[in-house]
Amino acid sequence: RVGRPLVVAIDGPSGSGKSSVSKEVARRLRLAYLDTGAMYRAVTWDCLDRELGLGDSALVEASARALDLELSTSADFEYVAVRGQDVTAAIREPRISASVSAVATNLGVRDELIRRQRALIAAHGRRMVVEGRDITTVVARDAEVRLLLTASEEARMRRRGLQLGGTQTAEQLVQQVVERDARDSTVASFTQAADGVYTVDSSDLDFEETVSAVLDVVQAAVGRP
Ligand code: DC
Repeated sequence: RVGRPLVVAIDGPSGSGKSSVSKEVARRLRLAYLDTGAMYRAVTWDCLDRELGLGDSALVEASARALDLELSTSADFEYVAVRGQDVTAAIREPRISASVSAVATNLGVRDELIRRQRALIAAHGRRMVVEGRDITTVVARDAEVRLLLTASEEARMRRRGLQLGGTQTAEQLVQQVVERDARDSTVASFTQAADGVYTVDSSDLDFEETVSAVLDVVQAAVGRP
């Protein structure tokens, strides 16, 4: 069973608990883990670092194609480097979150990152949890398990608030999350499950319950992993 392909594709909006749940699922199933959002963030960091205008789509696409990117594919070890520089923390900064949609809506960038994501999945013998916005619909349409992790707006705001340490006002949070989802929705549809995609609604589930629900879906789809 060790070599059996098992790609678990997980899409969902920000604040759905997607990243922490995806990592834990990867650990439990002993699969590699790929955070595709980190790749869009890395391209954004690179463009800002080199002071490129994000509006110049040809230049931004060329940057993505040439990007020297190193990315951990282990759920136990978070590491992202651009041109050899550790940007693991830097890509989570608000200035990146505020600009990343401009990069993620660049179709040339998407084409390049999708190509790299598929290569990474193949390089890991197709044994990987892959999370993002377009994994179930584009990147790994052929995944053994495809799953949309949703949560009500209220639940997502609550988690965001916790994540940011509760320093922001509720209004700021709502605005940030709603605006970013609206921008992101223009390139990938992750608010409704596509055909054959399971949905797990985590609104009323805690972390453990959400992980269990996802593992149940995996088992329903492929049997005992
Ligand atoms: O999940 P995240 O917040 O780290 O994602 C960062 C940005 O990248 C977010 O604005 C959506 C975008 N993204 C995307 O368009 N497609 C993906 N597969 C993953 C992320």
